[in-house]
Amino acid sequence: MEKYGETLFALDQDEEIRLRLLAQVFDPLCNRTLESLGVARDARCLEVGAGSGSVAQWLCGQAPDGEVIATDLDLRLLERVQELRLRRLVHDVTTDPFPDGSFDVIHARLVLSHLPQRDAVMRRMPRWLRPGGFVLIESFCWFPIDSAPHPTYRKVMQRWSNLICGTLGTDSWWSRSQPGSFLAFCNAGMVAVQLADEQVRAGTHRYALVVIADRLSELVEYGTGYIELFNFADGAAAVLIAADAAATRYEVLGGAHHTDPQWVDSYYGEIKNGEIKVERGEKLDGLGEAFLDNFTTLTHKVLAGIGAEVAEVAYFLVTHGNQDTHRKYLAALGVDPARSVFQYERDGHLGGADPLQALEELEQEDRIGSGDLVIVATAGSGFNWGVTALRRT
Ligand SMILES: C[S@@+](CC[C@H](N)C(=O)[O-])C[C@H]1O[C@@H](n2cnc3c(N)ncnc32)[C@H](O)[C@@H]1O
Repeated sequence: MEKYGETLFALDQDEEIRLRLLAQVFDPLCNRTLESLGVARDARCLEVGAGSGSVAQWLCGQAPDGEVIATDLDLRLLERVQELRLRRLVHDVTTDPFPDGSFDVIHARLVLSHLPQRDAVMRRMPRWLRPGGFVLIESFCWFPIDSAPHPTYRKVMQRWSNLICGTLGTDSWWSRSQPGSFLAFCNAGMVAVQLADEQVRAGTHRYALVVIADRLSELVEYGTGYIELFNFADGAAAVLIAADAAATRYEVLGGAHHTDPQWVDSYYGEIKNGEIKVERGEKLDGLGEAFLDNFTTLTHKVLAGIGAEVAEVAYFLVTHGNQDTHRKYLAALGVDPARSVFQYERDGHLGGADPLQALEELEQEDRIGSGDLVIVATAGSGFNWGVTALRRT
């Protein structure tokens, strides 16, 4: 087994291009996730295996009164980052230490799955945190490739996976082996809509198709006492995003997301006998209040960002986890339930498809018109909350 960068991924011109492209693709979601977890102005941040340094540079902007250390085995690309406050350090995350309690934020993207010592590294990094700090690990996973419909693509990528696995010890499935790693996906739909919209607006692509599909019925553990929480059914929706404004029905005006570290892994999925079963982590009280707080706070934040008032919004569409929370959210905003859609009895909870199916229903019934504002509140178990503002063109 060779070390990362010895021959495979050695830092030459092609590798530099690859790392810059990775940053281009992954930075928008990464920055959003870090923002939602909260990087304080005086945070002490560690960017592990920083590569081109784009995230480290962004962190410097988020923590102007703090400190950012970017590590890598090779600092040549990091030396080119124009940021006086950035500290660069040759540091092998598998062997080199940091003192316990050094950082508020530790981030490692597309690093751990390449390291055979990944599980040991996962156990070491939290010790470097100060109380209240967090570690964010982002990793790729092969499942969209394994399920891709094109056999040649699957074959080529499988060879590639075998090569990096045989050479470096990379595990293309490692991230999926972590508990809680897939339930938070229910919120990914609207995040994907926002990201795709940004890319299309930036002119990178003319069209983007976001497919949001959940097989939530597989999550139900019928034997447990908390079945009442999970009115889950299977659902799907697709959103076509186009560069040509005249061809679009809705404009994405803005959005905000929040991941609450306290609730991460409070529910998680485990694959058992080929089925996903919902498991509960440490028992915590107050999830309903957390939904309410996050939805209302994010709604006010998004409305402030687009310069609109609650009264100007035609509809508030909410992900269908719990009808009581849905009603309380509307009440907290002072909004009549007639300005929302309740499909609970008919459809159950269809995951990320809930609000989009509600929107489609409003369209079909001619209850929405040009210029109408719509607020979409979504959540993913795991736990992440998001609010998106749309305008009917
Ligand atoms: C796929 S790149 C990702 C770069 C960057 N994190 C990003 O997402 O844009 C993996 C990075 O991890 C670094 N790396 C690999 N093994 C490492 C180790 N043991 N300690 C620190 N960094 C390492 C590599 O040099 C490379 O820059």
